[in-house]
Amino acid sequence: MENKTAKESRTVITDLVLPSETNPIGNMFGGELLARMDRAASIAARRHSRRIVVTASVNHVAFNKMIPLGSVVTVEAQVSRAFKSSMEVYMDVWIEDRESGLRSKANEAIYTFVAVDEMGSPVPVPAVIAETDTEKERYDAALRRRQLSLVLAGKMKPQEASELKALFS
Ligand SMILES: CC(C)(COP(=O)(O)OP(=O)(O)OC[C@H]1O[C@@H](n2cnc3c(N)ncnc32)[C@H](O)[C@@H]1OP(=O)(O)O)[C@@H](O)C(=O)NCCC(=O)NCCS
Repeated sequence: MENKTAKESRTVITDLVLPSETNPIGNMFGGELLARMDRAASIAARRHSRRIVVTASVNHVAFNKMIPLGSVVTVEAQVSRAFKSSMEVYMDVWIEDRESGLRSKANEAIYTFVAVDEMGSPVPVPAVIAETDTEKERYDAALRRRQLSLVLAGKMKPQEASELKALFS
């Protein structure tokens, strides 16, 4: 299986925030943004693996900025690292100023997807080639995040999480 660059999985989804997608004070619902991110991330994971993919975990979401009604929201997703059957997808969320058109970062999120066959069993995926400095940083940190996610899910013993432990030593 040939390795693939992180960029090959890049997925960009831009859409408006409509009234039905807001809370009583006129800002976008967190759940609506989570769903948009899930869609973008699943397309990125599919582009990387060319397989059926399922969301295994939502590792990190930071809702740093409110996103008002009418905003133009862009979700950029890219596979940051692949392991055996799992892929970490890193997302940046941007909003666009109506008058200037300038983009500002609203949120970030990291999801894990697993490639599966028709029976839902995990299947191997290509490794990721990180090229830019940001891609390399995200690639390196993905191993720690995988360990943290597995420890929190009760699928790895904390004493086996070597990369994670190294952070505190
Ligand atoms: C995700 C899923 C396929 C994993 O299956 P599993 O039987 O736990 O399989 P494994 O233990 O072999 O794990 C498969 C991979 O998932 C990874 N994984 C499983 N749970 C994880 C978690 N919480 N965080 C990060 N990675 C996880 C494992 O590390 C492994 O990665 P690797 O192959 O790269 O080493 C299975 O739990 C599933 O189908 N879940 C439902 C997915 C779904 O429906 N999502 C939508 C929710 S509405």
